[in-house]
Amino acid sequence: MSFSAYKEVVEEGDTIMLYLGFDNMHTFIVKRGIVFQTRYGALKHSDLIGVQYGSRVHLAKGYLYVLYPTPEFWTCNLPHRTQILYTTDISMITLQLELRPGSVVVESGTGSGSLSHAILRTIAPSGHLHTFEFHEQRAELAAEEFKTHGVAENVTVTHRDVCEAGFQLDHVADAVFLDLPKPWLAIASAKQALKLSGGRICSFSPCIEQVQRTCETLTQHSFHELKTMECLLRNYDVRTIALPLADLGPSDVIEKGKIQPGLGDGCAKPAQQDAITADLCKVESLDDENKNDQRPYNISHVDKDEDIGRSENCDTSNRPAKKMRTGQEKSVFVRRHDFDLIGRSDGKNFSFKSANPTLQMPGHTGFLTFASLYPS
Ligand SMILES: C[S@@+](CC[C@H](N)C(=O)[O-])C[C@H]1O[C@@H](n2cnc3c(N)ncnc32)[C@H](O)[C@@H]1O
Repeated sequence: MSFSAYKEVVEEGDTIMLYLGFDNMHTFIVKRGIVFQTRYGALKHSDLIGVQYGSRVHLAKGYLYVLYPTPEFWTCNLPHRTQILYTTDISMITLQLELRPGSVVVESGTGSGSLSHAILRTIAPSGHLHTFEFHEQRAELAAEEFKTHGVAENVTVTHRDVCEAGFQLDHVADAVFLDLPKPWLAIASAKQALKLSGGRICSFSPCIEQVQRTCETLTQHSFHELKTMECLLRNYDVRTIALPLADLGPSDVIEKGKIQPGLGDGCAKPAQQDAITADLCKVESLDDENKNDQRPYNISHVDKDEDIGRSENCDTSNRPAKKMRTGQEKSVFVRRHDFDLIGRSDGKNFSFKSANPTLQMPGHTGFLTFASLYPS
């Protein structure tokens, strides 16, 4: 198996990913005779051999998925020997270093190999990664992992202090990446490693003082186009929000500008009405760009079990509203112009999909400084 290619079926010796949930993933090498315990029951490795990647595997109390390993999964699950780079920074690094199949890259330090795996996938099948690590055991473990993951042919792991002894490479690299406490000490050697036709360099540092010294040294060594950036990921939770529904009167057509909460039975109490009106107006303001359009909002009756997601994808503009099944709880979709789904109502609540930033956001990891070396 190889992290840089794909295959259909699990074999003994493969590194696989087990997906039990978005925050519950595991990785291991498949070996006959071993049993892996999960919260859904025991999983015999031998039962995985011959299973198609992507399959659902049933256990005594539930199921899990067997997935083919990718650098992204590896970053989420690898054994941490150091701090590592995560996918948000990695994606910017591979883009800004202009990596592609066939690129030759120099990296230090190797650390836990999180970035190395992503580089190796990007430069496969013909590129090469020269990675340097001054901690002997980390260098050895990384080399072993590269072998197990089928990418050893494309990588050379060297145990060396690059700040003391340099990379000792002459004009072979398209790009250099530095994740070191004192990156400025490796810049002269990085320049020597870059091709005479020029190349790109990136240095990752958590502190702005490190960035300042790195930029000074890059300028002294005739690097150009210096750019420092911070990549922050903003996650959103998509969830259904239910708000109490205002009574909109006898008609099943809500005309724009004529929302009158509190006219009928079961309506909200006066104190709640302002809030409800404001919320309904918010829904209406989704349509700000079409504010001159006077066509009405339609409420079409649908079966309760019909799914909003599915319904969103089909064009219902020419379809008559569906009839409710008798005996079922009343449930309606609220649409604009017959087809833009804006929410759903069961007569008491109005529910709609909303995306909110998560309360806990990933924060600062480090600054990425990029620069170019022009052809000499
Ligand atoms: C933060 S880790 C790198 C993590 C790596 N980028 C990853 O994504 O897994 C920094 C590594 O640089 C190594 N290192 C520090 N100074 C070094 C030097 N002068 N020469 C070589 N490696 C060095 C450390 O041993 C450590 O493993």
